[in-house]
Amino acid sequence: MSEQRDDAIMVDRCVCFDVSFRQLKQQADERDADFDELQRAFGCGRGCGMCVPYIKEMLRTGETVLPLRRDWNPSASELPAPK
Ligand code: FES
Repeated sequence: MSEQRDDAIMVDRCVCFDVSFRQLKQQADERDADFDELQRAFGCGRGCGMCVPYIKEMLRTGETVLPLRRDWNPSASELPAPK
């Protein structure tokens, strides 16, 4: 199965709790925090949940700005195609 990446739209935060992946990475680095600890501290992922795979990817790779993955966000298929 091919990846469904959309490099024109980038994801850099948990929108529901308005916390950036940069902030989360800083906390993860300073406190050696895992996903569960970040979720307890910031609430990230407890709203719509769409940021969860991005946060886990951020923890895995260290990247804080990630391309939209339509296969991770089923509702993203409703977004207009990039030009
Ligand atoms: S974007 Fe993170 S819970 Fe909705």
